[in-house]
Amino acid sequence: MKKIITIVGARPQIIKAAALSRIIRNEYSNQLQEDILHTGQHYDERMSSIFFEEMNIPAPTYQLHVGSGFHGEQTAKMLQGIEAILLKEKYDGVVVYGDTNSTLAGALAAAKLQIPIFHVEAGLRSYNFAMPEEQNRILTDNLSTILFCPTQTSINNLRFEGWETSGIKKGEISLVGDVMFDNALYYSKIAQQRSTILKELKLQPEKYILFTIHRNLNTDNISRLTNCLNSLLSLAEKTTIVFPIHPRTQHIAEEKLSTIWTKLSQHKNIIIIPPASYFDIIQLEKNASVIVTDSGGVQKEAYFFERPCIILRNETEWIEIVRHHAAILTDDNKEQILKAYETLQNKNIHYAPLFGDGNATQKIVTQIISTLEQKK
Ligand code: UD1
Ligand code: UDP
Repeated sequence: MKKIITIVGARPQIIKAAALSRIIRNEYSNQLQEDILHTGQHYDERMSSIFFEEMNIPAPTYQLHVGSGFHGEQTAKMLQGIEAILLKEKYDGVVVYGDTNSTLAGALAAAKLQIPIFHVEAGLRSYNFAMPEEQNRILTDNLSTILFCPTQTSINNLRFEGWETSGIKKGEISLVGDVMFDNALYYSKIAQQRSTILKELKLQPEKYILFTIHRNLNTDNISRLTNCLNSLLSLAEKTTIVFPIHPRTQHIAEEKLSTIWTKLSQHKNIIIIPPASYFDIIQLEKNASVIVTDSGGVQKEAYFFERPCIILRNETEWIEIVRHHAAILTDDNKEQILKAYETLQNKNIHYAPLFGDGNATQKIVTQIISTLEQKK
């Protein structure tokens, strides 16, 4: 029996970890044991425990309660906490997801102790090194034993950087598809049966925009946040908006943009709600006319559920969505956002399969097991 530890901390990682945990427990429990370590990067009930409950993820074996802070401070606390656990327990491998500070801390702690690292959602690039996510993912990729890539673009990015071509020994790359797509397929019906959010908010299908914004690129820059929220006010003149708000965005808007925040909160067409549960957000995504977001995960889910998307950035790691004309990059430009809304509403989009066959998680688990078996 091999033993791995999965490191999570931020909302999207908990959601992705649900897919792997489910397959390990249901199909491979005689070959692989999984412990979960939660760094505590996200800690509000609606940013963390709600997903464990809803998606039936086993409670973390370890909780570091690191909380918020400067990136260096936060990552350092995680690194120290994770290392102590990796020294105490003998794990055969460490699984990390995506590109947050929790991802980097997990990979770095494991690399120093020479424990194999499995990076799920590897190879993504924005080519904007100012993004903390870009720093985290490049560093993590370079430390990883197997890089599980969700898209052909992510494979191409790694080859461009010398994986398999430079002659320098690097981690193995594997095109498996996207675990979030697996999740979307698995939970779509369940969410439809269990979520009552459309009824609660009195929403008609395809008669509202779903809006989310949280990336520090948009929220820490007051002029960009002002532009995005002013665009939201203009969109609200045309249709209803549902805005599940990330705590980061709410703190900044309340503190630094009180005039706009008051307008948003009082607008008759804008429904601001706390961070949604996974089942509720899926229902909101599936029934929106258009999704406006800077979230990586929400962009992809828009594509999975065949909803057009406006991306509040000027680049994206999921560029194939834009190339397939299912999403438009508008940055924080109000004119472009309003124009994109008109364009996308009337567009006939062909949603070609871009994110695998729905079996990414199976492929990942079997490859982890075979790699660890070979290391005997
Ligand atoms: C982090 C990730 C980002 C990811 C996002 C997913 C990094 C560098 N960033 O960004 O890539 O897209 O998670 O949601 O790892 N806060 C709360 N309660 C919480 C969590 C956060 O109030 O439960 C507030 C705090 O004021 C905190 C701020 O949100 O300072 C930012 O949290 P943090 O985890 O540092 O970054 P995110 O913006 O969430
Ligand atoms: N999500 C959620 N509730 C919300 C907003 C997002 O459950 O109110 C989910 C979303 O469906 C996706 C994941 O969180 O599965 C994306 O995470 P987030 O937007 O926080 O970060 P990113 O993907 O940009 O790193």
